[in-house]
Amino acid sequence: MTSDKRKVLKFPKGFLFGTAMAAHQVEGDNVHSDWWAWEQESGKREKSGRACLHYEMFEGDFELMKSFLNNNAHRLSIEWARIEPEEGKIDQKEIAHYRRVLSKLRTLGLASMVTLHHYTSPLWFTKKGGFERKENLKFFEKYVALCVQEFGDMVDFWVTINEPNIYIGAGYFVGAWPPQKKSIFLAFKVYLNLVEAHKRAYRIIHQKISDAKVGMATNFGDIPAKKGIFLNHIASVIVNFAVNDFFYFFSAGYHDFLGVNYYQHYRIAWNKIQVTLNYAKGKVLGRKVEPVNKSDIGWNIYPRGVYFVAKRMWKWFKVPIYITENGIADFRDSKRETFIKEHLKWVHRAIGEGVDIRGYFHWSFVDNYEWALGWGPKFGLFEMDKKSFKRIPRKSAYYFAEVARSGEVEV
Ligand code: BGC
Repeated sequence: MTSDKRKVLKFPKGFLFGTAMAAHQVEGDNVHSDWWAWEQESGKREKSGRACLHYEMFEGDFELMKSFLNNNAHRLSIEWARIEPEEGKIDQKEIAHYRRVLSKLRTLGLASMVTLHHYTSPLWFTKKGGFERKENLKFFEKYVALCVQEFGDMVDFWVTINEPNIYIGAGYFVGAWPPQKKSIFLAFKVYLNLVEAHKRAYRIIHQKISDAKVGMATNFGDIPAKKGIFLNHIASVIVNFAVNDFFYFFSAGYHDFLGVNYYQHYRIAWNKIQVTLNYAKGKVLGRKVEPVNKSDIGWNIYPRGVYFVAKRMWKWFKVPIYITENGIADFRDSKRETFIKEHLKWVHRAIGEGVDIRGYFHWSFVDNYEWALGWGPKFGLFEMDKKSFKRIPRKSAYYFAEVARSGEVEV
């Protein structure tokens, strides 16, 4: 009987299925970056260290993405701190490295989505004031131009900046991440400068490659604020709202696609009181919320949210959307399969209603260094043996592989 009720949701031909990763979290030994310096500052911080050794193991990883996961795309980031470890000094070995990385993706037929800035900056840039100072944008522009020149022939999609909202919120508002500043004034300045940085990067890439596909990946979710400090939570939510949708308004016309990183829905926490801002328990704007379900790190699972975000962004901007990140910290791997299935169900629903969503990148391929949370959260479809760095597929990896192979989700 139940099988009669099952529905198979077919994704459009050419839909991209991939995983997303960021250099600092997986490559290892990113010693010239501001994050590396931050990790060493206090004995209490977990360190990225050799990370997942992806710098050395990228070929095997990409092969697994292709042959095990049946993926047809991958989102990665290029590490500015490797390419330009000191101001003006370009490391040709690293350029050659990333050319090998991108050409491996090409050989395997995996479309590449390349992020140019995923939270980390070279330490020298951060010491100069980073994105706080408009005059520093020229350094970012030079780096972008270099990447276009060196890698342009091998990149399918460009993501200029990953999650400016989290970068600003955690680094300039909550003050927990590098450069650990707490200032509304600075946060606002960085906000405007990142809008400008994105626009300039967009122009630079298009000058060289007129039909390039350039976008940005923004986090449509809660910003993890410091525990127990109510004002931080309020502030983080406000920043989130302000820089999510409005970031796009300020840079409208500079997006060939919109990158949506979706993990959870908004909420604020104060002691034991949890207030869901977007979709409070029961009803908000007439919508019922599913029973609260959480990941290992307490993020509220709310698959339907990806549908609301996609619908809203499509209505306003009418450019193709890619789900550039979606994933769950789930060390038992007991929720990941359903998590993927449910989110894809809502993605499919949005597509059925005319929203042009063209791909889904799962965060992440393998358990990795989760920023201030260190090695605790397990976001990987593969777990990693910490000693041998061996990748071990979780059950959900088999599920995702089947979805990518068939281009279908059964619900
Ligand atoms: C970030 C990733 C991070 C993930 C899970 C996203 O917001 O882009 O770098 O690992 O969240 O914490």
